[in-house]
Amino acid sequence: MTTIKRIAMIGATGMLGIPVAIALMEAGFEVTALARNPAQARRALPAAIAVMQADVRDEEGLRAGLRGQHGLYLNLSVAASERKGDFHTEAQGLQHILAAAREAGTARIAYLSALVHDAPDSRWWVLSVWRSALARIKASGIPYTIFYPTNFMETLAERHNAGSLFVMLGRGHHRNYWIAGSDFGRQVAKAFALPQAENREYFVQGPEPMTYDGAAVRYARALHKSPLVVRVPLPLARLGGLFSRQLDFNARIMQTVLRYPEEFKAGETWDQLGKPTITIEQFAELRGAPATAPTGSA
Ligand SMILES: NC(=O)c1ccc[n+]([C@@H]2O[C@H](COP(=O)([O-])OP(=O)(O)OC[C@H]3O[C@@H](n4cnc5c(N)ncnc54)[C@H](OP(=O)(O)O)[C@@H]3O)[C@@H](O)[C@H]2O)c1
Repeated sequence: MTTIKRIAMIGATGMLGIPVAIALMEAGFEVTALARNPAQARRALPAAIAVMQADVRDEEGLRAGLRGQHGLYLNLSVAASERKGDFHTEAQGLQHILAAAREAGTARIAYLSALVHDAPDSRWWVLSVWRSALARIKASGIPYTIFYPTNFMETLAERHNAGSLFVMLGRGHHRNYWIAGSDFGRQVAKAFALPQAENREYFVQGPEPMTYDGAAVRYARALHKSPLVVRVPLPLARLGGLFSRQLDFNARIMQTVLRYPEEFKAGETWDQLGKPTITIEQFAELRGAPATAPTGSA
């Protein structure tokens, strides 16, 4: 079995790619970001992380990027602007990635999925993309580690908040075990170092359960004395979605997340990959206030 020292990442510049890239680097791996826009990636990532140009639309470029790498971490996503019949990084892009990884002899692929991938009663095409990505990875013959995370605290910072304004779509009653990206990154690093994590799937959950709204209010209060929390009812957001693809996507993802009956399932993950510790308040202190406009989506 190959000892994994060098790890390539696709999606390292993403909201959840950055904390994982940093955690892998801090754990001593040699990390290379395969990015569409190397100049942008260079600005987003620490200098110790190498950057190479690659696009998941281009199999040849991926082959060059994966040469000499032991591991590959995938932080892919379906963008709010995508339609069902479009090119998806987690569908056609993933086919290119797996073909290139097979040829490069990649020893392990780690893939960030989502706890809600098996949401009951949902026929939304995005869930089909996620589910077929899982099937493709498992059938690829390449050793894999798959992560099913609950909500990331980064979402509160980057998708719901601008200054003292917090925009929430809908209100859920289930409680989610929110996790910080850096806690998750440390689990990913542990998994790459652990031979037993090969061909394993891990539930990823944080230290304490909170409703979506409860977590947002705690985060808002940790950042601002008088936060302004605006709540848009989901039916209204779905109606607005008839006129805006982005709003439609955001309302659907929120509906999927808010209805998901999450239970605690991460006991084995904590035993093998370490227990997450970062609370919402600690996360708020680490992040400070962002400046961009909120979208209200997960
Ligand atoms: N938010 C949550 O709480 C949560 C919970 C569970 C699971 N997840 C899952 O986490 C995943 C990642 O989320 P995220 O917010 O980090 O996504 P993101 O910010 O949209 O990042 C996507 C990454 O993919 C890269 N990319 C896009 N198209 C590419 C292409 N053609 N070739 C190469 N790279 C390309 C982007 O690079 P550029 O910099 O070039 O755009 C970016 O680095 C999603 O699948 C989501 O479902 C999220």
